[in-house]
Amino acid sequence: MKIESIRLKNFRTFQNIEMKNIPNFCVIVGANGTGKSTLLSVFGFLRDAYQSNLHTALTKFGGSKGFNEIKSRNQDGDIEIELKFRQKPDSPLATYYISINENNGQPIINESIKNTHHNLTGISDSGASNSVSKINLNKFFINLSI
Ligand SMILES: Nc1ncnc2c1ncn2[C@@H]1O[C@H](COP(=O)(O)OP(=O)(O)O)[C@@H](O)[C@H]1O
Ligand SMILES: [Mg+2]
Repeated sequence: MKIESIRLKNFRTFQNIEMKNIPNFCVIVGANGTGKSTLLSVFGFLRDAYQSNLHTALTKFGGSKGFNEIKSRNQDGDIEIELKFRQKPDSPLATYYISINENNGQPIINESIKNTHHNLTGISDSGASNSVSKINLNKFFINLSI
């Protein structure tokens, strides 16, 4: 598994960032509070969303305010996460995308995965383990997280 790029919108301190051409060995350096931990937390967040459900992940990472804590302050848009990756060095580039919002406390999720052989459906917002494809994505994010 090789991540080629990460794009984030409204994910905590990152209102709109893209990290492209990520090398095999990547060291992230920055002063306190610049977002190093936040960047890495994306993978733990997705792992938890797949292992359990989105509500659990939002609460674990955002505390009692959940979605509203993880969303960038004073921003109205969706939280968006896009990862471009290759399963193996010679695999085609695949794109995983998820947008998350909330309406009256109910999560609204849009997600897609493109250019792979997987045909995957989504995160459960209720906790129900819903499909074989969820298991695949679960494994995928366990591999990504540290
Ligand atoms: N929802 C949010 N909106 C905007 N900024 C946020 C939000 N949540 C956390 N932050 C800010 O993100 C920063 C924390 O970044 P962090 O990833 O811990 O930095 P580092 O690991 O590089 O020290 C803090 O400055 C904090 O105020
Ligand atoms: Mg840190």
